[in-house]
Amino acid sequence: MAKNFLRKIRNLPTLPEVLASILATLDDPRSSAVELEKKIRYDQALTTKLLAVANSAYYGFRHPITSVGRAVVAVGYNEVRNLALGLSMVGYLHPSTFRHRQAARQLWLHSVAVAEACRLVSKVVGYEDGDLAFTAGLLHDVGKVVLMAFFPDDVDELIKRMQQGVGLMEAERELGMGHQQVGRALAEHWELPETVRMGLSYHHEPSPRLANYPLVAVVHISDYLAHGLNLGDGYRLDRPELNNAALESLGLSGPRLAELVKEVAARRDDIQRLWEALLGVAPVRG
Ligand SMILES: [Fe+2]
Ligand SMILES: [Fe+2]
Repeated sequence: MAKNFLRKIRNLPTLPEVLASILATLDDPRSSAVELEKKIRYDQALTTKLLAVANSAYYGFRHPITSVGRAVVAVGYNEVRNLALGLSMVGYLHPSTFRHRQAARQLWLHSVAVAEACRLVSKVVGYEDGDLAFTAGLLHDVGKVVLMAFFPDDVDELIKRMQQGVGLMEAERELGMGHQQVGRALAEHWELPETVRMGLSYHHEPSPRLANYPLVAVVHISDYLAHGLNLGDGYRLDRPELNNAALESLGLSGPRLAELVKEVAARRDDIQRLWEALLGVAPVRG
């Protein structure tokens, strides 16, 4: 990774306070629903958005959810935390302000797909923290979002090379702007919790030597599965490689993987609904 890139990342703004404090609760077993509720309620814009998602077609509740507390009861503490985190991050890195607006929207769609796939894969392989995997999936490509947000000229160059037939990973290497390396630098700069950090930094290079290897493997496989939906992946044009060792480590033999491909495909409408709700374009039910 080019040194000046890393320096630029260290100069990026820090995360909005509410987002940083929600992230911090991920690795804190003592965090409670009451505390989280308080944090969200202090942020009027976030509360409004959260209620909009809780009342969106993604959940399809018959009665309107009118408070953060009710949202916690209806969808659960972990789910509210996931949503608050997703909304704050998408709000902070919102595609509407980007030069690569369309690619950024597609990248968030891909990220939601990976998040949903992470939850599904966790269930199938018996990984104990599916909610955490969801968040790790949602944030796995945030390095790319940040590249689009803050370094659009470099992204233009990257796209040019990919259009000439160079794969993403190779083009990134040539330009010294790997999205995983950016992810690692961001994780440090933003002090992201360890669990999110691992998914963000190593999802294309899962290795048993890593801390949280099962989580990294879940994100890796979910990324692959999400690509099978052809929902796009921001500016990436090629498909990521599937690491067989990661597959084996989770006990996902051929037929089980084929089954998962089908299950992820069946979630397509839900993925679309959650994405629309997160980006604030879904009609809100009253
Ligand atoms: Fe990636
Ligand atoms: Fe990805």
